[in-house]
Amino acid sequence: MSDDFLRYLTAKRSVDDRALNRVAWAQLAEHVRARQLALRRPLRVLELGAGVGTMVERLLAWRLFDADAEGVDYTLLDANPALLAAAQQRLADPPSWLHLHFAAVNAFEYANRAAQYMQRCDLLIANAFLDLLDLPTALPALRTLLADDGLFYFTINFDGATLLEPAIDPPFDAAIESAYHRTMDERITDGHPSGDSRTGRHLFMQLPAAGFEIRSAGSSDWVVHPIGGAYPDDEAFFLHFIVATMHGALRCESTLDQERFDAWIGERHAQIDRGELVYIAHQLDFFGVAAR
Ligand SMILES: C[S@@+](CC[C@H](N)C(=O)[O-])C[C@H]1O[C@@H](n2cnc3c(N)ncnc32)[C@H](O)[C@@H]1O
Repeated sequence: MSDDFLRYLTAKRSVDDRALNRVAWAQLAEHVRARQLALRRPLRVLELGAGVGTMVERLLAWRLFDADAEGVDYTLLDANPALLAAAQQRLADPPSWLHLHFAAVNAFEYANRAAQYMQRCDLLIANAFLDLLDLPTALPALRTLLADDGLFYFTINFDGATLLEPAIDPPFDAAIESAYHRTMDERITDGHPSGDSRTGRHLFMQLPAAGFEIRSAGSSDWVVHPIGGAYPDDEAFFLHFIVATMHGALRCESTLDQERFDAWIGERHAQIDRGELVYIAHQLDFFGVAAR
């Protein structure tokens, strides 16, 4: 794994902080507090594709959990051990009521194992994760990880719009956007389809079909823009990483004139350096309860 991906996930924290849908968040917070009150044991939380652990940092900063309840057992799961090692470092000093566990494993292998001998969780979290999966096969497996009546919080699910301003060449800009989304629709991981560019809207049908009852949904668009000519935190790096990802995804795309595309990519990087680029990605958040 490149250090760039680790830095990207870290830089994404402030972008996600702004983006997360506050109505879905408020519903989550209300239900988590009520659940903690009702349980006479620690709340069991499982986060899928946890990356470098920024969601845990956020949940602490935003005081999701009741520190006076019976504690929280929180498992961060990610297939990438290097990311989890970074998470372990970042989260080296949790409050005494928060017990962290780190599982470097593929979520579906974990689900297979969990079905046999593990306790199901009370709250299942996945941030910027479900849009990497083939929903019809993945969601039923993930449902087995969550107790009946358990809570889920599935956030930052990409949904079909990548907007970059100022325009360079509107017809060419649009051709690049649709070719980029097509790479998501045609992506194959380990021989299986993996995600699509309209995951957000598809979740409205796919979640209930797999036993996840939606209680709240709303947009969580990334909106990254300069303030006084500069980007906050490490968001200039975040933008360079996004543009580099588009470049990598489309560098063999036969429908694009590659010389023109290289120049377009160069101009997008230059717009970031000049503090001009505005980037918007449309995404959706979901909170709900597992159907019995
Ligand atoms: C886009 S990143 C998001 C990370 C983190 N949730 C965040 O928002 O910063 C997706 C993460 O999912 C992990 N991942 C992808 N497929 C996985 C799988 N099948 N099982 C476990 N983790 C997976 C990747 O290693 C990566 O850390």
